[in-house]
Amino acid sequence: MVFKVSLVSTSPIDGQKPGTSGLRKKVKVFKQPNYLENFVQATFNALTPEKVKGATLVVSGDGRYYSKDAVQIIIKMAAANGVRRVWVGKNTLLSTPAVSAVIRERAGADGSKATGAFILTASHNPGGPTEDFGIKYNMENGGPAPESITDKIYENTKTIKEYPIAEDLPNVDISSLGVTSFEGPEGKFDVEVFDSADDYVKLMKSIFDFESIRKLLSPPKFTFCYDALHGVAGAYAHRIFVEELGAQENSLLNCTPKEDFGGGHPDPNLTYAKELVARMGLGKSETGVEPPEFGAAADGDADRNMILGKRFFVTPSDSVAIIAANAIGAIPYFSSGLKGVARSMPTSAALDVVAKSLKLKFFEVPTGWKFFGNLMDAGMCSVCGEESFGTGSDHIREKDGIWAVLAWLSILAHKNKENLDGNSKLVTVEDIVRQHWATYGRHYYTRYDYENVDAAKAKELMEHLVKLQSSIPEVNKIVKGICSDVANVSSADEFEYKDPVDGSISKHQGIRYLFEDGSRLVFRLSGTGSEGATIRLYIEQYEKDPSKTGRESQEALSPLVDLALKLSKMQEFTGRSAPTVIT
Ligand code: G6P
Ligand code: ZN
Repeated sequence: MVFKVSLVSTSPIDGQKPGTSGLRKKVKVFKQPNYLENFVQATFNALTPEKVKGATLVVSGDGRYYSKDAVQIIIKMAAANGVRRVWVGKNTLLSTPAVSAVIRERAGADGSKATGAFILTASHNPGGPTEDFGIKYNMENGGPAPESITDKIYENTKTIKEYPIAEDLPNVDISSLGVTSFEGPEGKFDVEVFDSADDYVKLMKSIFDFESIRKLLSPPKFTFCYDALHGVAGAYAHRIFVEELGAQENSLLNCTPKEDFGGGHPDPNLTYAKELVARMGLGKSETGVEPPEFGAAADGDADRNMILGKRFFVTPSDSVAIIAANAIGAIPYFSSGLKGVARSMPTSAALDVVAKSLKLKFFEVPTGWKFFGNLMDAGMCSVCGEESFGTGSDHIREKDGIWAVLAWLSILAHKNKENLDGNSKLVTVEDIVRQHWATYGRHYYTRYDYENVDAAKAKELMEHLVKLQSSIPEVNKIVKGICSDVANVSSADEFEYKDPVDGSISKHQGIRYLFEDGSRLVFRLSGTGSEGATIRLYIEQYEKDPSKTGRESQEALSPLVDLALKLSKMQEFTGRSAPTVIT
């Protein structure tokens, strides 16, 4: 049968500007007639018809509600736009890092390579009929589309008049592996459903020493727990941790991917990963069972990670610094050294200290993984991370939740090589972190989020903070009036970044107040929310004295927190007396 292509008339729909990581909206918004179709066609048009014709496209995601419908729509539109083949992970499941790996590594039976991907995810936002859906496009290098493309996509959504679709193309069975071939007006069109984990597992095995991790995970000494929060990480966790690395079945929590993430909020932090937090002995009440030595969680699309030790939380900012400091001896992929390291601006300066001490190239980029991608493509950066529970390396062009866990397990395996047999004591996650602080100093760090704040009020708060910056002496007067035992503000600005690779400039990337002792207050508006505005406040204080690195973080930071709230007039502008989430 030859499928037909029909042209559907449409008109622009407001609000299709892709955010930091694609377009994220409530499912009911996506279900409006032509909503998804307009965005997909706007993307095809931005990529240009010449590039789309004959292309091999990956379409998959975290499996959230509406993915199954969306994938069939995109297949029909891809066929109509002259795409040669679409690759779909079984049941539409591919983690964001796995998509990046598939684009970069996978070869079809005929040697074909993917040219890009539609990733169907709203990351760590909840899923289900009344929650969020999302879509973003990744390029040939496996990374998110750059602003030049997303801007074009947005422009196209404002002028779109029609899109082609192969309406009579039957739905493809995405639950069984194999190729389904069709014949269209422009020739052959194939849809291949493939295993979600194969390519990714192969890549991980080429980076890490699985044998040494296997030894670490074999009972009885080291105990382990992984919580996928019912996101797509579950599709990888069993395969990697249990089948490949020999972890116990019962070390996996919530590892069955669900369309609604089991009703939870699939964001790996101390607030939302409740079950893991309790199991690790970090809950309000002890469970009576001895917590495991190591725990980790992932978000919906498995690019984020949270690392925990027994009764111990590792901040993401510390995590990337510790991985960078230990990578060379512990991870075969880095055995010849690190090309450089990078962090996002609001991430703490723990990584800076490591870079300085190891004489590594160092970059501070705006929030958003795409900024790391440019550095990696240019061979300038090997390891990078963000305070928002994202850590990764140049093996792909997305952050990678499972990679981060394997990196930590590699470090633990390396440090415990001699301790696994007999009675010697294990070096724990907490030991590694405390040792790191003793060597490099500690960056006390916390983030306050005010979610779903009135957008106009959030804007006013930010404007107020920018206005204040015009006179540092004035700021210091206010600071001293609020709190006498914090250092002076030495400078304040709005973060601006010039990409060293392509020279592009990104302005207004967050408001900074920098203190003489290295402390920082940073304010920015989230680029990933789907309703109202989310204000993020990042608070950091550096302590070099090893005898003072063991304090409780919220207590150590409390003068700075108080100062930040008063300086920004948080309650006045937002009407909120407390943040929605503290991480
Ligand atoms: C996504 C991106 C990250 C970024 C984060 C910021 O997860 O992949 O690179 O750090 O969004 O989110 P925000 O809500 O703070 O803009
Ligand atoms: Zn994510």
